[in-house]
This record gives sequence, structure tokens and C-alpha cells, in this order.
Amino acid sequence: MKKYLVTYASETGNTLKLAQEIHNAINCPKDDKSLVDIRTWNGTLDAELYFIGFWINRGSCSLEIIDLISSLHGKNVAFFGTCGLGDSYEYHKMLEQNARAWLADDNNYLGAYFCLGKMRREIREKYEDMRGKCADYQIDSMLERFDNSAEHPDNQDLLQVRLFTDEILVKAENYTAAYV
Ligand SMILES: Cc1cc2nc3c(=O)[nH]c(=O)nc-3n(C[C@H](O)[C@H](O)[C@H](O)COP(=O)(O)O)c2cc1C
Repeated sequence: MKKYLVTYASETGNTLKLAQEIHNAINCPKDDKSLVDIRTWNGTLDAELYFIGFWINRGSCSLEIIDLISSLHGKNVAFFGTCGLGDSYEYHKMLEQNARAWLADDNNYLGAYFCLGKMRREIREKYEDMRGKCADYQIDSMLERFDNSAEHPDNQDLLQVRLFTDEILVKAENYTAAYV
């Protein structure tokens, strides 16, 4: 069994960047940690601490991620992810709660980190094409959100996810220490 597993779903590479940063930030012998694309998941890997990452698709995460989250028992678990449409504490909290709903209570949940992730250019064009069919203020708001995410994840996001990783590792260590 690995000590640390960083697994992720990423269509366009944003969440992959966070996953790589987390994986690099875990300071341990190489064999104690793994970085795994959820699409290659075959259920045979096991770990003490899971960092599970996903991109937000219509407010939720992919089925493969839900399957993994709901299969866990007795694990230390943290989430991370990227989203294109919101950078507020409340929005990130809602995304966290949506994912957490799939996690059984016998796990030790440690926390989540979300940041903005840029969206494909075609999405901006789709919004533009809606002009005349929706109210201008709605289109402008969607375009603004698109543009806000265009440079993310940036270096600041990567720094934050490193700090998040350190925090989660300390929490997991303290939790384990309390039970040995
Ligand atoms: C089909 C589709 C649906 C999306 N739905 C949402 C959504 O509901 N909420 C949100 O904040 N972002 C949404 N996004 C934006 C992505 O979550 C965001 O760009 C993310 O960083 C992509 O991550 P990836 O590069 O790891 O695939 C959506 C993007 C696509 C393509």
C-alpha cells in the first residue's frame, strides 16, 4: 500500500497542474507516493492518504471520481479541483460539499482546495453567440467570468495548493498520531 495517492480527472490540463504540484510537494521516498490519472484507475492501488482532484462539469465531478470517493473506507481524504465559473469561498464550499456527500463517514476528511481554471475558447464564442437570445447583463456576466479564469491556474494558485498540501499532511500526521 502507498502512503500517498494523488489522483485526478482533467480534460484540458488545469487540474493536472494542481495534481502535479501536490505530488511534488509531498516530501517522501518516491515509492511511497503515486500520481494517477483516474482514467487509468483499475482499483488495485491503495493508500493511506488520498488527494482526489477533479474539474467541475455542470456543478459536479465525473462518475469515475464519484465511484472512487464512494469506494473509500477508513482513509485520510482531501479534495482539490478547478472550476471556470466562480472564485468565491461560498462557491468553492458548495463544490466541496457536493463531492463530500459521496464520502462515507468512516473516512477522515481533511479539507479541500479549489481555484479557477481556464475554459476553452469555444465556450466564449458560444456565450457571444447567445447575444440577442439572452439578456445582455447575463451574457456580460458569463463573459466576465470566462475572462477572469483565463490565466488560471497561475503561480499564485500553485503556491496556494502547495500550502494546502502541507496543511493536509500535518493534519493527517496528527490524526494518525492520535490513534497509535
Ligand atoms: C462541459 C463543461 C462544463 C463545465 N461546467 C462548469 C461548471 O458547472 N462550473 C464551473 O465552475 N466550471 C465549469 N466548467 C469549467 C471547467 O470546470 C474548468 O475550465 C476546469 O478548470 C477544467 O479543468 P481541466 O483542465 O482539468 O479539465 C465547465 C467546462 C466544460 C467544458
